[in-house]
Amino acid sequence: MILVTGATGGLGHQTIDFLLKTTPATKIAALVRNLSKATDLMKQGIDVRQADYVDYPALVQAFQGIEKVLLVSAVAFTDRMRQHRNVIDAAVQAGVKHLFYTSIQRSTDFVMPEVTESDLATEAYLKASGLVYTILKNGYYFEGLGYLIGNEVPDTEIRFPAGDGKIAFVKRTELAAATASLLTSEGHDNQEYTLSGSEAYSFADIAREFSSLAGRPIAYQNSELAPYIAQKVAAGFPEVVATFLAQWGAAAKAGMLAGTSDTLERLLGRKPTSLREYLQTTYF
Ligand SMILES: NC(=O)c1ccc[n+]([C@@H]2O[C@H](COP(=O)([O-])OP(=O)(O)OC[C@H]3O[C@@H](n4cnc5c(N)ncnc54)[C@H](OP(=O)(O)O)[C@@H]3O)[C@@H](O)[C@H]2O)c1
Repeated sequence: MILVTGATGGLGHQTIDFLLKTTPATKIAALVRNLSKATDLMKQGIDVRQADYVDYPALVQAFQGIEKVLLVSAVAFTDRMRQHRNVIDAAVQAGVKHLFYTSIQRSTDFVMPEVTESDLATEAYLKASGLVYTILKNGYYFEGLGYLIGNEVPDTEIRFPAGDGKIAFVKRTELAAATASLLTSEGHDNQEYTLSGSEAYSFADIAREFSSLAGRPIAYQNSELAPYIAQKVAAGFPEVVATFLAQWGAAAKAGMLAGTSDTLERLLGRKPTSLREYLQTTYF
């Protein structure tokens, strides 16, 4: 039986949606911390189990009879490492064989605050746990682009502190499809996969696509970190969030999210969504 954590969130729920295309609901379990958010999963016959990542005994209980766990990483600005350690230890105690972990893409050794440190520590902990592991180094979601540059088509320019850095954006639903495929196929024991888009795009590329789609010139202006943070704060973001968003710019500038891999494309059996397709369907 396969158990997916974070099943009330985007990636976890979408992974279950894809699992259901090939796997009977009776062979799928979902870990949620709030049962009232999981009624649709229950209606589909999924075995919904309740535990918070901070509740070790509940995790051990929830993992009974499970062979594979997809650990959807905990959210930033929480004690991610403690939560991940609990999940891994509970999986060992409950007799789980194989744990998949959703980490972040790392094409360079840039360390993204709140994200990379705990991912690196989790990966090391998982590798030492004795569980069979598969590490999914997920690319930056296309769906996160709006946080960085806004959700409306820019009037005349995009300001972002990424320099010429590129991001191999990936649609979350395509990550979910690839994850479901990995969970239901063999050959992934103790493997690490970068699940990125097949092409990486700079913010100048993004501005160019916006210009082409909007039919007017839209330019990319590199920003320093401080003015970008100030601009986001002025737009209503808490300073801690604005700083976090700026750090994604620093990560992009350092090439952390730029590497491309054909793994996602092979798992999907087609080209992943391109920048132009994403912008066209989301912004226009
Ligand atoms: N690659 C990227 O661009 C990117 C972007 C954003 C996030 N991420 C990472 O990828 C993960 C999955 O992304 P997503 O978009 O699916 O995030 P999401 O929609 O926020 O879903 C997170 C899921 O984790 C569950 N969760 C959080 N803390 C938990 C806890 N203490 N115990 C049990 N469950 C807990 C949430 O439960 P509730 O529904 O109860 O809140 C939710 O189901 C995120 O958590 C984050 O680590 C990656």
